[in-house]
Amino acid sequence: MTTDRPGHAAVLRFPPGFRWGTSTSAYQVEGAVDADGRGESIWDRFSRVPGAVDNGDTGDVACDHYRRHHEDVALMARLNTNAHRFSLAWPRILPDGRGRVEKRGLAHYDRFIDSLLERGIEPLVTLYHWDLPQPLQDAGGWRIRDTAEHFARYAAVCRDAFGDRVRDWVTVNEPWIVGLLGHQLGLHAPGEKDLKGSVTVMHHLLLAHGLAAAELRTGARAGTRAGIAYSLFPHTPDDAADPADREASRHSDGYVNRWFLDPVHGRGYPADMRRHWERAIGDLDFVRDGDLATIAAGSDFIGVNYYTRRIVRADHGDGPWPWKVVEGRPGVPRTDLGWEIVPGDLRELLLRLHADYPGVPLLVTENGAIYRDEPAADGAVHDERRIDFLHGHLKAVHEALALGAPVEGYYHWSLMDNFEWAMGYWPRFGLVHVDRETRRRTIKDSGHWYARAAAEGAIPA
Ligand code: NOJ
Repeated sequence: MTTDRPGHAAVLRFPPGFRWGTSTSAYQVEGAVDADGRGESIWDRFSRVPGAVDNGDTGDVACDHYRRHHEDVALMARLNTNAHRFSLAWPRILPDGRGRVEKRGLAHYDRFIDSLLERGIEPLVTLYHWDLPQPLQDAGGWRIRDTAEHFARYAAVCRDAFGDRVRDWVTVNEPWIVGLLGHQLGLHAPGEKDLKGSVTVMHHLLLAHGLAAAELRTGARAGTRAGIAYSLFPHTPDDAADPADREASRHSDGYVNRWFLDPVHGRGYPADMRRHWERAIGDLDFVRDGDLATIAAGSDFIGVNYYTRRIVRADHGDGPWPWKVVEGRPGVPRTDLGWEIVPGDLRELLLRLHADYPGVPLLVTENGAIYRDEPAADGAVHDERRIDFLHGHLKAVHEALALGAPVEGYYHWSLMDNFEWAMGYWPRFGLVHVDRETRRRTIKDSGHWYARAAAEGAIPA
């Protein structure tokens, strides 16, 4: 897959049909929170809690993508991408989370999907990217099973509306992060701090996936696929020579990764982690007969959200876990948020998924970095570090492909700078810079680099 013609620099060529994509989510980019009958979401509520979001930022306006979506699809066309992942806002489609369907919400996404397809951009549609309708939260949110049932009905509405044009669906985005940040640490909406509640939530999210996957596959066009986008962290023991650290790393991997992957792929909850949870929170009484069979509906592809690794050492301190996360290694490059940049771990992760869940296609549904570059005097954004980041991670994907991992595509997080949840707008993840005052879009140097790669289906070797 390497080409080296005389007079041409060597390149790493990706397979034909490889998806060169970008990724966003509704609350992070859309704004227009009162438009067209949209209901309230838990992030509208949470972002107003004093101190919850840096700088008091909210998604009220965000990138104004709801109104500027034609301009943004034109930007994607300039990036030469052939795929885009975005989420539907549940509160735009069912303002109360259930019952009445808001036609104007459906009409908006209809237009958006059509304009993507007109440009040859294949939509990858996420149903739940964290903006739960507030009325469902008021009734108990993801802590109660009913929410999973409501989610399945919402999935059916979306299938009926868009299933003729959308083939690939992500049901739930990052169930671990929803449980951890939203329900255990209280850092994301709905801001709960309840360990058992968080494990219950994670179970109901998996159940929601199983129920929704069944809906999506029924009555939709042939070839419809439903998957989850997981936040996957490859693990490294702090001291690889120490058996206790190796054991700790394996357990933490159970907590972060296997707890979700194993049941979805028919293996039930992993026994080692189940023991940890039972010790920490008692009986897992929210797991009912038949749930694991529903969850084992499977994932027609594994959505990989990869940002960095997790280094762990054995530690039997005060927390519920016999491990501790170690603060990175000196000398490893980092993003502006301090996350270690380790592209090789993406390759290993993809190979491991291929080995552990053979035959399941892989999509890198998110990968990206916070670099706070602003336009220079010449008006351009010279974000060399993001180019290096892209190059390193795409090279890792290429290596994984060469070793047989069935990676179908790469969706960079993100198309444009947007609302980064509890951190508000200061982190910038975009290939496209968004001016915070005017919302003017400027394709960064990294965007131009990605555009070239997507057009050629190749990156420099
Ligand atoms: C994970 C989430 O899915 C997305 O919403 C977030 O902005 C990125 N990672 C970056 O943190």
